[in-house]
Amino acid sequence: MSGTPLGIPAVPPPTVLPTWKRAWDAALYGPDGFFRQQAPAAHFRTSAHVSPLFAAALVGMTREAGLDTLVDIGAGRGELLAAVHALDPALDLLGVEVAPRPAGLHPAVAWTSALPESVEGLVVANEWLDDLPCHVVEVDGEGTPRVVHIDARSGREELGRPLDHPSVPGSLVAWAERWWPLDGAAPGTRAEVGSTRDAAWADVVGRVTRGVAVAVDYGHTRETRPLLGSLRSYRDGREVEVLPDGSRDVTAHVAVDALAHRVGGTLHRQRQVLREHGVTGSRPDAALARTEPGAYAAALATATRAAGLTAEGGLGDFWWVVSRRS
Ligand SMILES: C[S@@+](CC[C@H](N)C(=O)[O-])C[C@H]1O[C@@H](n2cnc3c(N)ncnc32)[C@H](O)[C@@H]1O
Repeated sequence: MSGTPLGIPAVPPPTVLPTWKRAWDAALYGPDGFFRQQAPAAHFRTSAHVSPLFAAALVGMTREAGLDTLVDIGAGRGELLAAVHALDPALDLLGVEVAPRPAGLHPAVAWTSALPESVEGLVVANEWLDDLPCHVVEVDGEGTPRVVHIDARSGREELGRPLDHPSVPGSLVAWAERWWPLDGAAPGTRAEVGSTRDAAWADVVGRVTRGVAVAVDYGHTRETRPLLGSLRSYRDGREVEVLPDGSRDVTAHVAVDALAHRVGGTLHRQRQVLREHGVTGSRPDAALARTEPGAYAAALATATRAAGLTAEGGLGDFWWVVSRRS
């Protein structure tokens, strides 16, 4: 490591740019943040938008566990809860969302911006954690991992404090060392430090007094961490340049093994969970097309959507982190 004449390690002057985490937070959740203005479904498609079969699987899990309440964290515009209500109107439903209650949502669905104190029921968060800002770290030319800062307007990045600097929070350092270590990594290698996601989900799971907590998201495990990180932006249904400027979504995959470890959860692929709940994507018998063309067309549409929810390389690869409390 390079040093000063006194032998004190040289520390770069602090950059005036915000950290990635801070810029990301302002871009999505500041007063004019993306999610305060924009409906997720206008910009990207989640399992909740693809088919009511996703809702049906969650209803099945809720009832199988003997529960009669379902809480959706990061509920978007209530699409999942509306589908759940249509399938099982006797369930008590609550949406937790920073955006206001959507117009037209069935009055039986409760809506709030604050996490409930306690829950006896099934809590689901579909594609919530990937949108929770986290610190980004990059290895510099000398092999030192440093916190990345960004100019939200231009996208210009600067490297700030080294991870071993006393001002860098211990929780960040400990998470990176354990779950996404960068020792010996080539310059430019990056990590997205999932400690904020783990803490947020642990907070939710800690409120479940009896029931099931399910975090559903795209993610990676220690064996599959992306070398350059996984930051992405979406707007109007397309992937666009990554920029925390409030005009687009900013997301990064979730380190699901760290998350499962933190909350004592088990890891499953979405295709596996949905197949266990009868979502197969099998095509209807072609003979039905001749005898009942309308029924055949409907069954084919359902099968197509089921295939979308369970597809390899698509939504089927999503991870479900399932925690049970009895
Ligand atoms: C990617 S969208 C997913 C929406 C929905 N779950 C779906 O599957 O279509 C993430 C949602 O989480 C919401 N959100 C993010 N942080 C939140 C928080 N702390 N409390 C409540 N909602 C939050 C955002 O406003 C956004 O609507």
